[in-house]
Amino acid sequence: MTTRAELPAQPGMTVPGGTVPQWKLPDEGWGRKAADAATLHEPQNIREYVTMHQHLKVGGGTRLLDVACGAGLAVELATARGATTAGIDASARLVAVARDRSSGADLRVGDMRALPWADGVFDVVTSFRGIWGTTPEVLDEVRRVLRPGGLLGMTVWGHVKASPGAWALRPFLWADASQVTHQAAMNSLGKPGVGERLLTAHGFEAVRRVDVPFVWEFADPESYARAMACTGPGYEAIQTIGEQRFLHDAAQLAAEHARDGLPLRAEINLVGFIARAPAPSGGASSFLAEPAQLSAGASAAYADDKGELGYVMNATRLWAHDTEAMELLFKALGHVTRTAGLSVRDRGILVTAATSTLGDSYCSLAWGAKLAAAASTQVSAGVLAGDDSLLDARERALAGWARRVAADPNATIAPDVQPLREAGYDEAQILAITAYVALRVAFSTVNDALGAVPDWQLRTSAPEAVLEAVTFGRAPAPVAAPDSP
Ligand SMILES: C[S@@+](CC[C@H](N)C(=O)[O-])C[C@H]1O[C@@H](n2cnc3c(N)ncnc32)[C@H](O)[C@@H]1O
Repeated sequence: MTTRAELPAQPGMTVPGGTVPQWKLPDEGWGRKAADAATLHEPQNIREYVTMHQHLKVGGGTRLLDVACGAGLAVELATARGATTAGIDASARLVAVARDRSSGADLRVGDMRALPWADGVFDVVTSFRGIWGTTPEVLDEVRRVLRPGGLLGMTVWGHVKASPGAWALRPFLWADASQVTHQAAMNSLGKPGVGERLLTAHGFEAVRRVDVPFVWEFADPESYARAMACTGPGYEAIQTIGEQRFLHDAAQLAAEHARDGLPLRAEINLVGFIARAPAPSGGASSFLAEPAQLSAGASAAYADDKGELGYVMNATRLWAHDTEAMELLFKALGHVTRTAGLSVRDRGILVTAATSTLGDSYCSLAWGAKLAAAASTQVSAGVLAGDDSLLDARERALAGWARRVAADPNATIAPDVQPLREAGYDEAQILAITAYVALRVAFSTVNDALGAVPDWQLRTSAPEAVLEAVTFGRAPAPVAAPDSP
């Protein structure tokens, strides 16, 4: 929830004590009881933070910005996952808490409508109930600071009235009618299709809705009342009915929901959106310039691509610097393919399971299309999304093993190999299958690390469901004009 003070920007407004820019006003509502907000209110949202960080694969090295970061608990949790973190909030008093919690993070007091960071510097931007239907312009700023292919993860209220814990938000309705109307306008993004349309209109791709568990728990009615009183919308209600009455009525409301020996519990419907920043149009094929002079091997590889696909893949342009290395890698892949007796369908399963785990969009799209042709679009989209229900037992063993190898080869245990034996593979074949996955991981790693942009042609050749399932990694290049190479 945000406050009425977040209405679209005006140059400044007069408040007791002088003229304050509009964006600074949330500090009155959210910051005036910063310690309560940080300890009674914010920890209630922890399920939401963990779930979104998981969806966004926040981990070691992720450059993450949290917009409207409040007292910075989400920033602290992202830092604990190994991310390099930054945050911004309009409330100076909440940012002070955030700095206390994460001394190494780049935390700023400022207006989310003018983010004080350069273009393309973040892999992930999060915003937990911070971007609303009334602040769509923030999305342009978020897209600007994300690198091409970077991910936005944001949450908004869903169908609050239908939530079992709807009662817990009722005190916010005690504000004056115009403020309640404004709150309703802010909450529009969770309605079916509304957030998706807005994100797409602001240039985001691969927009998807994810389930986010959201539960408030309180020890007793008085703690609940205090936790509500330190929020922005709680402050709006307090301005209308007074603090004493707010605390009294809120505690009474909560008392109706008290349970013997259990905490007060309010489960509220929350919607998560994940969306990807697009690749720039007319961009390079990777971080490396193509060789000025093509070797005989590179010329042959270009000709092969043109004959097979009608265009030269960006990956081929990258490997043109050492086609021999690429040939050796593919020779090794061919060798282990024969040893393990892998069909095209099997390889499609191994590659899509491994590359979706790695977050490599390029091979996921290319092989997602191949697997769709060899099996079906549903099988391909399923494996890319981690759903193996359409596979038989042998194929499930392949997909499961590929994900384990790609995720963390040091975390495997001996029983993980057993399903492959049960599927009929002998020890030499299991080695070959593992080598196949590892060689594909090596190929993806080179492409991804050197910024190979998935070819725009994949946007038209891959089935829609495959495109929708590849919500990670570098965005494919925008579809080029018909006469482009
Ligand atoms: C619902 S709270 C969410 C806070 C935090 N994300 C959390 O999970 O608890 C909304 C936050 O938006 C901040 N805010 C409101 N308007 C803002 C603006 N224009 N720029 C930056 N932050 C703003 C408020 O100060 C408040 O901390």
